[in-house]
Amino acid sequence: MKIAIDGPGGAGKSTLSKKLAKYFNLVYIDTGAMYRAAGLACVRKGINIKEQPTEAVKIVNASDIDLLPGDTGQKIMLNGEDVTGLIRTPEISMAASDVSAIPEVRIRLVEMQRKLAETKSVIMDGRDIGTYVLPDAPIKIFLTASPEERAKRRYLELTERGDACKYEDVLAELLIRDKNDSTRAFSPLKQAEDSILVDTSEMNFEESLDYLIKIIQERL
Ligand code: DC
Repeated sequence: MKIAIDGPGGAGKSTLSKKLAKYFNLVYIDTGAMYRAAGLACVRKGINIKEQPTEAVKIVNASDIDLLPGDTGQKIMLNGEDVTGLIRTPEISMAASDVSAIPEVRIRLVEMQRKLAETKSVIMDGRDIGTYVLPDAPIKIFLTASPEERAKRRYLELTERGDACKYEDVLAELLIRDKNDSTRAFSPLKQAEDSILVDTSEMNFEESLDYLIKIIQERL
């Protein structure tokens, strides 16, 4: 079984995918975490990813990025260090988006993602899972919500975690990432033709989860 979940940032992909993985007994693979680890590696070296893409490729190629799926959640490792708790900041979100636009980086990470899915039943979330990483996945969902609603959810998540931020800044950052991710030349964010569009703007978390479970069950 392979389920592909794509969509823009803040649509609830990872929270919902984790729950769906438990419900359907699948391994959850968060591909965004890999791009975030790659972004973190570049930030740590102090480079400007957009202006120094060749440097960024060198740094990412020299980095060991490992995603370790597990029952209590997955861990993302960078050169043997558990960086799971370090990759959810606005700075790393933007670095991930920038580094993910570089084809050489994508090719390397996509290869790892396909390997992870080869021998397991998975639910994989990202931007290009249904269109590029797992084009044969029998169930593909494109999860979205209005930018304002997605920014509201991200803002609540960040402030609940104790991060001081402004809603306006969260919305602005989200719009930049939407544009970055959907206009890059190689494997951009777009809805796969054979995917099911789910807009959760008017749904709360439980409603979204119930709706997705129903959709998946109908197709199993
Ligand atoms: O899903 P996320 O917000 O954690 O992803 C971080 C960035 O990584 C996102 O802005 C775009 C990029 N990404 C990608 O290009 N392709 C994927 N399959 C997953 C993420």
